[in-house]
Amino acid sequence: MKTKLTELLGIKHPIMLAGMNWITEPGLVAAVSNAGGLGILATGHLTAEGTREQIREIKKLTDKPFGINQALVQVKSKDNIQVAIEEKVPVINYTLGKPWFIDKVHSYGGKVIGTVALVKHAVKAEQLGCDIVSVTGHEAAAHGADATSLVLIPMVASSVKIPIIAAGGFYDGRGLAAAIVLGADGISMGTRFIVSKESIVHDRFKQLIIQASEQDTIYSNRFDGMPGRALKSDGALAMVKSKGLPLIGGISGVFHVKKMLRLSWWDVMSTALSKKTADYGSWGARSIFDQLRFAGGAIGQEAAIYKGDEKLGFMWAGQSIGGINEVLTASEIIEGIVSEAEKVLKIKASAS
Ligand SMILES: Cc1cc2nc3c(=O)[nH]c(=O)nc-3n(C[C@H](O)[C@H](O)[C@H](O)COP(=O)(O)O)c2cc1C
Repeated sequence: MKTKLTELLGIKHPIMLAGMNWITEPGLVAAVSNAGGLGILATGHLTAEGTREQIREIKKLTDKPFGINQALVQVKSKDNIQVAIEEKVPVINYTLGKPWFIDKVHSYGGKVIGTVALVKHAVKAEQLGCDIVSVTGHEAAAHGADATSLVLIPMVASSVKIPIIAAGGFYDGRGLAAAIVLGADGISMGTRFIVSKESIVHDRFKQLIIQASEQDTIYSNRFDGMPGRALKSDGALAMVKSKGLPLIGGISGVFHVKKMLRLSWWDVMSTALSKKTADYGSWGARSIFDQLRFAGGAIGQEAAIYKGDEKLGFMWAGQSIGGINEVLTASEIIEGIVSEAEKVLKIKASAS
């Protein structure tokens, strides 16, 4: 299926694997790229050395284009982006922050995708020189803002000229067709690929998603200090209902993240005090308690992904969980979506 996006990136199908920390590791990234989509390695939970190792692992598994995803508000994000540039990764996808690396990526022929959730940020991303903008609707897993994909995509399409990837709520061919009709050039999916055969997510959480309806997500800032959408697991409900300050979970989270990213105490303190901001509509500066929630959230996510622990675990998930009913390979997911979208678009075209 050809669009402006497939042409620009040299991929077969206009489907991107959304970056998901811990989950979009080399196996899943390569599976999506080999199936003709664009696999994205999330690097927010990795050190610079880990990022390099995983990029090299992907290069062994596929010769197709792939990318990395990094939130720029995160501590050490610069180091991970620098490694990706040294490794000439074809696509750098950033979120939450100002990209300082666009010229460097362009100098080796790479492309930059800015992920945004507001129309004004899409315009800014284009002005800064991004090649593509990925637009996240309210339906999405994790950090969508207030506007839904239905509202956001046409407004962004009227505001920018660069190709648009629609994210948030997409799981089938009707969604891909709708995104294209609304003005996008492709879709990005997170939740759909969590439930793929290649995904390392614990089977218990895959089954929870399969059993869930569209009502079974919670949108709250209690998970990591930013408004985000997660599966309504026992662990997620406990985080939302907990009263008071996130001191105990947050402090153990700080030790956990410090070890995971091999941070010094200086890194930890300067991050806690920096109150880095990312304008997400209703969300402004991050207080020290938001930072603690962010750190505590890492423990909950790992408990869900690796152990399938419903009591402690929380997992980002979008409203599309209601439409996901089976575990398929990445290739089956992509082929199924593309052929359904082509059929739907043909029927609509011949009816008019
Ligand atoms: C488990 C999980 C983890 C995620 N982690 C990240 C991340 O590390 N960085 C990021 O930019 N987005 C992250 N997201 C959001 C996705 O990149 C994407 O915006 C979202 O999944 C799209 O909506 P959908 O789930 O309806 O497909 C995550 C989503 C999920 C489901």
